[in-house]
Amino acid sequence: MTAQPITHERERVAIVTGAGSGIGRATALALARAGTHVLGVGRRAEALEQTAAANPGIVALPADITADGIPRAVVEAAVDRWGRLDVLVNNAGATAVMSLADTDAERVTGLLALNVVAPSLLAQAALPHLRAGRGTIINVSSTYGHRPLPGAAHYAASKAAVEQLTRSWALELASDGIRVNAVAPGPTESEALSAAGLPEATVEQIKQDEAGRIPLGRRGRPEEVAAWIVHLADPAATWITGQILTVDGGLDLTG
Ligand SMILES: NC(=O)c1ccc[n+]([C@@H]2O[C@H](COP(=O)([O-])OP(=O)(O)OC[C@H]3O[C@@H](n4cnc5c(N)ncnc54)[C@H](OP(=O)(O)O)[C@@H]3O)[C@@H](O)[C@H]2O)c1
Repeated sequence: MTAQPITHERERVAIVTGAGSGIGRATALALARAGTHVLGVGRRAEALEQTAAANPGIVALPADITADGIPRAVVEAAVDRWGRLDVLVNNAGATAVMSLADTDAERVTGLLALNVVAPSLLAQAALPHLRAGRGTIINVSSTYGHRPLPGAAHYAASKAAVEQLTRSWALELASDGIRVNAVAPGPTESEALSAAGLPEATVEQIKQDEAGRIPLGRRGRPEEVAAWIVHLADPAATWITGQILTVDGGLDLTG
């Protein structure tokens, strides 16, 4: 006997990758507060459990989204549990400080596998379910998806790819009623810089420099980015697709 889905027909279901920290955790919490069932995905079980402990609407699924077969398994886990999928938030990602002189094939491949290939395979696996419910995809880019970033060109290039996937999928899927948008955060408090393997002193220096360049005078908080992901995911946002919403305290406006 197969288990019956446990959602009411009107309840929505989301997958949020990278839900154990930063923008992903804030997004999982904000979606759950809005009444959405959330499958939170990331490699660290403990970090995900902390997110899930904060709201009973969140279920943790520890998984490496770059591993073979995992994107499909993640989508199946959500659909097996709740019987549907309405929102895919492709948030998990990493940055890499790497000059051209130091460019390393393995690091480039790893960055693209996480920032570009995994979101693509998740979206592919989600597609039939998003079609069924006229669902939506929100990708997470960066200010540097549309600005140059000397010293981290491959990160910028991977986010430029995310922005072009967003626009192209928006057109490709519009006739299915599936909306595809992206948020492009500026420098936001999270584990991203430490996760890039930078020494703490360097991280602090980068944070100070960034805050100094942002017109609103400070780095962002994950909740300030998550709020816009939730807006874009809302079924009331019926007429917006293919857009890249920059949320960066005005950094994008500066030279
Ligand atoms: N913070 C910023 O300043 C900033 C600015 C622009 C754009 N962004 C983008 O915002 C998104 C979220 O980053 P964040 O700032 O919130 O940083 P973060 O705290 O480092 O979050 C990244 C998340 O991705 C998950 N992740 C990494 N590799 C994974 C894998 N192979 N499989 C599954 N999950 C994986 C991490 O969890 P595990 O380590 O447990 O797997 C982590 O929870 C990223 O796409 C980032 O590029 C951030």
